[in-house]
Order: sequence, then structure tokens, then C-alpha cells
Amino acid sequence: MSDSHSDPSIRFTLHMLARGGDSDTFAEDVRAGLGSRPRFLLPKYFYDGLGAQLFEAICRLPEYYLTRAESEILGQHSDEIVAAVCGPVRLIELGSGSADKTRYLIEALLRRQKELHYFPVDISDVSLERSSEELLHVYPQLRITAYAADYFTALQALADAGVIERQDKRTIVLFLGSNIGNFDEEESREFLRAIRNMLHPEDGLLIGADLKKSVDVLLAAYDDALGVTSAFNRNLLVRINSELDADFDVRKFEHRAHYNERMGRVEIHLVSLVKQTVRIRAIDLEIHFEEGESIHTENSYKFDLEQLGELARQTGFSLEKTWHDSAQRFSFNLFAAV
Ligand SMILES: C[S@@+](CC[C@H](N)C(=O)[O-])C[C@H]1O[C@@H](n2cnc3c(N)ncnc32)[C@H](O)[C@@H]1O
Repeated sequence: MSDSHSDPSIRFTLHMLARGGDSDTFAEDVRAGLGSRPRFLLPKYFYDGLGAQLFEAICRLPEYYLTRAESEILGQHSDEIVAAVCGPVRLIELGSGSADKTRYLIEALLRRQKELHYFPVDISDVSLERSSEELLHVYPQLRITAYAADYFTALQALADAGVIERQDKRTIVLFLGSNIGNFDEEESREFLRAIRNMLHPEDGLLIGADLKKSVDVLLAAYDDALGVTSAFNRNLLVRINSELDADFDVRKFEHRAHYNERMGRVEIHLVSLVKQTVRIRAIDLEIHFEEGESIHTENSYKFDLEQLGELARQTGFSLEKTWHDSAQRFSFNLFAAV
């Protein structure tokens, strides 16, 4: 990298491919999800400006062990983790958010190479701009090319830009925070195959994945005592009100988390507390909710190592190594492209 520079703005490029999640697509997805039975909304729409900040607050809650467990792993093993991929590397991160935990890996990489090109991808342009500004300020050896986009759009844009074709470096792709758990089995395979298609043998994909455990511990993480996760979930309705001119009375919907044992996932829902009618004027939609009727807003699948190994095998990777936190709550996995 020849353009290392003390002025952070010179080291930053932002490709705005879907600002905050494209608004036409948002309207279409809201219509499709709320118009179907059972009703659902896609979790990628949680992350408007307020939603992204509420998620950062969730990461600091005592009940939300996931962030602390993954930070512990990265704090202790980041040198060993990056050493698993040989030679100089570029770093791509999907769903980078605040990129707080990414710092462990950036620092480990900068201990063994002089400069680093980092490609964060996030549907939230607000998170990307804020986190990039902070990282560029702290690490003068870092160059950032960011994509405000849905994962699949960004993967295509990275492929079109020929970023990974340049064989002078290996590629490490990061997918942290058990984001993989938001996909069902088929979606996970489709997503991992799209990543694998872009990579070369010996490139690496690092996946943080939450493990199956006691239902009480799991449910507390998604239904905290302060009600921050409830606010995060109900903010989806606030977002629909403001962006699509709707009249959801947010107080008449309750956040609910439950563990679906058969599917191995925590589900979160918004449950209508009364029989009510909601209008979404921008898409000319009227919805009648029964008392107790739910909108399914997110799944968080929980894994065991056998499932992760199988997922790797099915998608052109091999599960090379897994690291755990000391309480064995969370796994951090190296999927090597084969
Ligand atoms: C659960 S947070 C994890 C953030 C961070 N990686 C961490 O571990 O704390 C999920 C992040 O992925 C982003 N995201 C969710 N769905 C996305 C999608 N379909 N495409 C791009 N980004 C997405 C969100 O904006 C958010 O920043």
C-alpha cells in the first residue's frame, strides 16, 4: 500500500450502495412481511441510526454474554487466529457495526505487516462512517474501503472491483457477533457459498458463532431486565412509522423472546396486546391484528461444533480450528477455503 497518510480522510472511501437499507426495498419487504401469515419483518431493518445505537447498548448489558465472550477469545488469541492465514492479508468484514472487536484482529495483523487494507460492509451507513473515522484515527497504517450495502450486494461489488483477484495478498473475511445465527440453514449455505465463490484456496473466513446452552441463559440475553432489547425490537415499528408514514402505537406491542427447541433458535417477536388496525400510508396497507397475534422479527440460531463442521463442508470450506471463551459459551471458528 503506497498511500499511507496521516490525514484519515485520504485513507477512506465509502461506497454508498444502500443507505440505511434502500427505502424502496424496505417498503416492499414491509409489505411482503406484514401481509403474510404468520407475519414477519426482516432483522436487517433493525439497524437505522437509533437501532444501531440500541444494539451497541445491548452489547454492554450484563445478560448479553455474546459480546464479552467473543471479546475474551479475540483478546487472548488474536495473534494465533491471524497466524492461521499465512502471508500479508487484506481484511473484509461483513456486518461490521461498531467494529470494536475487530480492533483485536487489526492490531494482531499490524504486528506482522506494516499496513492493512480493511473493507467493512454494513447496511448501516451511520455505523460505517462512525467506526471508520475512529479506526482511521487510531491506526495510521490502515486504509478503509467501506460498503454501505446488504451483504450480497457488497459481495458482488467486491467481486466486480476485482479486490480479491489481486494475489499479492491473502484474504480474511470476518463475520462476528454470531450474525450467522440470523440465517436459517439454507440461507447460511447460500451466504457461505457466495463468500467461498469470491475466495481462493488458503483464504480464511472467521465466524463467531454462539453455542447451544441453558435456555434460561439464552432467553435472558434476548429479554434483558432493563428492556433495551425490547426497545431495539419495537424500534422497528418506530422506523416504519417515520419512514413509511404508519400509525403503529408502539405501546400496544410487546417484545417476546422464546427458545424454539426443535429449531435450535431463540425467536424474537412483537406481540399485539389488543385487537387493533394499523395503517401504513406510504404503501397503502391496512393491517388488522388480533389480540396476541405476533410479528416474527428475528431468529438467533445456536450451534454445536458438529453443525459448524457440516456447514463448512457443505460450502467449500473446512473447519480448521475453533477457539472458545473460558466459560465455553461461544465459539470462534476458522473456515479455510479448500
Ligand atoms: C448483530 S450486529 C453485529 C455487529 C458487530 N459485528 C458485532 O459483532 O458486534 C449485526 C450488524 O450487521 C449489520 N447487518 C445486519 N444485516 C445486514 C445485511 N443483510 N447486510 C449488511 N449488514 C447487515 C447490522 O447493521 C449490524 O451492524
